[in-house]
Amino acid sequence: MDEIKIRPYRSEDRPSVREICYLTGYMGDPPDFYWQHRDSFMEVWTAYYTDQEPESTFVAEYRGRIVGYLLGCVDTARAPSPSEMVQKQLWRHALLFRPGTAGFFWRSIADLIRQHRLPEGELRDARYPAHLHINLMPEVRGRGAGAALIRAWLNKLRSLGSPGCHLSTLLENPNGVPFFERMGFRKFRDPVLIPGMRTPSGERIHEITLIQEIESL
Ligand SMILES: CC(C)(COP(=O)(O)OP(=O)(O)OC[C@H]1O[C@@H](n2cnc3c(N)ncnc32)[C@H](O)[C@@H]1OP(=O)(O)O)[C@@H](O)C(=O)NCCC(=O)NCCS
Repeated sequence: MDEIKIRPYRSEDRPSVREICYLTGYMGDPPDFYWQHRDSFMEVWTAYYTDQEPESTFVAEYRGRIVGYLLGCVDTARAPSPSEMVQKQLWRHALLFRPGTAGFFWRSIADLIRQHRLPEGELRDARYPAHLHINLMPEVRGRGAGAALIRAWLNKLRSLGSPGCHLSTLLENPNGVPFFERMGFRKFRDPVLIPGMRTPSGERIHEITLIQEIESL
């Protein structure tokens, strides 16, 4: 009864997955201090996975409720990049002009102008073609569900013969890098500053890419 169950995603899980994405979207907390528009945020970070590649998503179920997910992509080259997804939402919802999102987007533009170059973006490397996003609700963290979701995903990649997987996380997230390193990932390239992003107290935030080879069966 009190066990956290890991299972493949079903289409009826979609609203829960989107909700969890918003409730945990900034290092495990809601991103509302910089992105106060739920639909566009959920669309950017979940729509491709639930709608185009649902067979690569796993969910954690606890007491009959979805409490977490792993969104996977087997071949990153086939998926839209986060910046493509953001741009689509930017125009669709006029995010540059909404009070709850304008600050973030204008600050992103200012950061990009100041740094004189575009960020590297999503890793496109044939050795690590797959990627993932993982988020759990606070009440089930630290109980092995994250590890079980990662194991389910790596097993699937192994069965498909994938050579490797990467992921991006925030360097400043105290639960990000240590958890992924425990799960066999390692740092791949230098952390980069994320345009527009700040902590609630105003410090800049870095993105870091981690990788893991998939051992064949
Ligand atoms: C990060 C997250 C997915 C981890 O899942 P979890 O269920 O809490 O982690 P688990 O209980 O499965 O831990 C697996 C292993 O990682 C270790 N670990 C987890 N968090 C850790 C941390 N902050 N520091 C060091 N080790 C950590 C655990 O000790 C455990 O190791 P063990 O096997 O030796 O006991 C989850 O806490 C979460 O969703 N957090 C909020 C959102 C987030 O930060 N997402 C990830 C970044 S994109």
